[in-house]
Amino acid sequence: SRRITVHDITAAKERGERWPMLTAYDAMTASVFDEAGIPVMLVGDSMGNCHLGYETTVPVTLDEMAMLSAAVVRGTKRALIVGDLPFGSYQEGPVQALRSATRLVKEAGVGAVKLEGGERSHEQISLLVRSGIPVMGHIGLTPQSVNAMGYRVQGRGEEAAQQLLRDAKAVQDAGAFAVVLELVPGELAAEVTGSLHIPTVGIGAGQATDAQVLVYTDMVGLTPGRVPRFTKQYADVRGTLRDAARAFADEVVEGTFPQEDHTFH
Ligand code: KIV
Ligand code: NA
Repeated sequence: SRRITVHDITAAKERGERWPMLTAYDAMTASVFDEAGIPVMLVGDSMGNCHLGYETTVPVTLDEMAMLSAAVVRGTKRALIVGDLPFGSYQEGPVQALRSATRLVKEAGVGAVKLEGGERSHEQISLLVRSGIPVMGHIGLTPQSVNAMGYRVQGRGEEAAQQLLRDAKAVQDAGAFAVVLELVPGELAAEVTGSLHIPTVGIGAGQATDAQVLVYTDMVGLTPGRVPRFTKQYADVRGTLRDAARAFADEVVEGTFPQEDHTFH
């Protein structure tokens, strides 16, 4: 069985099918999601917060993206793997974007890349697509701009809503195969979805988008502390890991692990 391609994603939109996307940052977790049939995985620069211990996505480097994207590709057989272009790897212009995206395609083997920004990233998306690299756009809240925009719902008010619609059109006109809508009112996400022929992938954007994406550590209950209201926790992996670590520690201290079964003679 072959990998899912951007053509399959386009076909799903034509059939009106909804689909899920999860982030993944390592081969083992990605292999689990592949077994579960998740068709698209995003090696998000959210790895900065989730796996690398940074406060934001801003410090993530292209080297880090390439290394973890390669691991996710190796861990999967079926999913389309999308690699995020990190902050500073495409803002200088289309040529820098092409150089960065080419690394993720050649070194890591991703099937597509994602970058943030609507109108402001039109040129970058356009050159990548013309060069044969499928692009997923990302508008609304764009976490790489946290220092300028903070983390708040985007597109509220008539002017901001019109800008979001223009950004969505710009991403589509540049040739992107899909676009992430992050943290925008559900009604506006519905309007954007209705105005495009490419699929929208929502996160904190309500029910009307063609696809939904969650950061997997939020989704499985691994993220420490408070998670955003728009996410949903489907498991308690943090509790499971903590209980396993405590049980192991107790048995070592008590001398009940290892047993005869675990011992060679
Ligand atoms: O990095 C990421 O996880 C993302 C998704 C939230 C869309 O960009
Ligand atoms: Na991201």
